[in-house]
Amino acid sequence: MNGRSIPLAGVIGDPISHSKSPKLHGHWLQRYGIEGHYIPLHVTEGNLATVVRALPKMGFVGANVTIPHKVSVMSLADQVSDRAILIGAANTLTFKEDGKIIADNTDGFGFMANLKENAPDWDPKAAPAVVFGAGGAARAVLVALADAGVPEILLSNRTRPKAEALKSEFGTRIKVVDWVQAGNVLEDASLVVNTTSLGMKGQPELRVPLDGLNADTLVNDLVYSPIQTQLLRTASEMGCKTVDGLGMLLHQAVPGFERWFGTTPDVDEDLRRAVLA
Ligand code: ATR
Repeated sequence: MNGRSIPLAGVIGDPISHSKSPKLHGHWLQRYGIEGHYIPLHVTEGNLATVVRALPKMGFVGANVTIPHKVSVMSLADQVSDRAILIGAANTLTFKEDGKIIADNTDGFGFMANLKENAPDWDPKAAPAVVFGAGGAARAVLVALADAGVPEILLSNRTRPKAEALKSEFGTRIKVVDWVQAGNVLEDASLVVNTTSLGMKGQPELRVPLDGLNADTLVNDLVYSPIQTQLLRTASEMGCKTVDGLGMLLHQAVPGFERWFGTTPDVDEDLRRAVLA
């Protein structure tokens, strides 16, 4: 039995009830009339290996992986993409028919696709980018920006040594800027990105002074709950083009859906509405 007649996919995490992925993939399955299912899988660290190895045998064609398993899941894969190795985390697993587990990271793709869709005039090669934060999300953003040919990345994080560590790892194109100085380097940026959790519902606001922002600068917040963060509101009032973080979540899901269900899904208003509902 290959168990593949009705393809199954899901998202593995702990906790998992907050995940928007089931709504997202569920919307696409319905829209494209695909007879498949996408389900949330609450998996603790201790059960991760057992579950990941069992899924292909149970008819799963793939899975997304979220907190806290994005790093540890890589050791369970037979093949890890170069992008996932560089970022140091995987968010998308594909189970091949021969039983092999392929791990990839699509966060950087989602980040860049969101900017391309919503700010098509932004030229990554034109001027430096400013990145706030040095956690897992920042890693994916840094790799994507370097790939896109951004000339310089000004990286600022509350805990400066973490930013210094990313500079050592990812190279000389990164310049570390002290957290309290971050407001002073915005003027020449073509892009400002918040990868921290600041501004998220229940978290403090990002307090970097934005007076130095230029109206030509594109401002992107990875936070999508709320959709309009204080950072985006202020930037918008200053005349900047802004892009919210929901698009990154939607776009990072595209490669997985395409690989598992054989259809390239659209990211559009209908999907945004379905995910926010
Ligand atoms: P993620 O995977 O979402 O990036 P993470 O790896 O925990 O999550 O990283 C969280 C980021 O938000 C870090 O850059 C963190 O800064 P520190 O490295 O100094 O912890 C940043 N962050 C979280 N809370 C913050 C706060 N109150 N002030 C400033 N930065 C904060």
